[in-house]
Amino acid sequence: MYMRQILRFDELDSTNAYAKRNCSLLSDQTVLVARTQTAGRGRMKRVWLSQAGGLYFSVLLKPSQTQFLPNLTQWMALAVCESAREAGAEAFLKWPNDVLAGGKKLCGILSEAVTGKNGFEALVLGVGVNVAQADLSRAGQPAVSLKMLGIALTPEEMLQRILDRFFEGYEQVVNRGFESIREAYLARFPYIGKPVTIRYGAQEAAGTVQTLSPRGTLLLQTPQGVTEISIGDMMV
Ligand code: BTN
Repeated sequence: MYMRQILRFDELDSTNAYAKRNCSLLSDQTVLVARTQTAGRGRMKRVWLSQAGGLYFSVLLKPSQTQFLPNLTQWMALAVCESAREAGAEAFLKWPNDVLAGGKKLCGILSEAVTGKNGFEALVLGVGVNVAQADLSRAGQPAVSLKMLGIALTPEEMLQRILDRFFEGYEQVVNRGFESIREAYLARFPYIGKPVTIRYGAQEAAGTVQTLSPRGTLLLQTPQGVTEISIGDMMV
């Protein structure tokens, strides 16, 4: 059973922003949860609609080694995906760290590193899960909640399931990286052999997904050969 510190708020600007502002005061593995956010943020500077009914939390991590930080984000995505499946949703992963159901977004993760004078200080994993919202038409992208899938769970219940799972495998991923979760991740990743376009940095590449490497990067077969991409937006 997960026993770490959980700080709960009725409203925050953003759980990620709060974790970053207070990083030095908060201990390793502190969880910040907000019932609503007034300035929820997504990847690529997008807004994350954060009304009551959704689950909005950040985990502040100060791992003993930093070699596999991107894989911790992938592990969180897998932990959310498995928790949603356990609840009855046919959830799957869109590399690197989105969770979808019926082709629509069920969860997004924004991971941010906090750095100081001495370099890396902490990783903030910010997780938004659509749990009990009845209407997500203002989300800005096709989105779905567990409730819309006919699954009745509270944000708090979903949080507990995710944290139990995430921390059960946490040390393994810190020490061994993607290799320790690759098989389980691939089992929820339906894009192998599929044509996709990946936007990464200012570039875009179209091709067929070959596989995910032991480092968690995506190997894309293109007419020019195999391209290895470590972070990007998959368009399918
Ligand atoms: C994405 O663009 O897919 C990532 C969305 C991440 C949203 C979560 S909600 C909790 C945490 N606080 C934020 O401001 N963002 C993340």
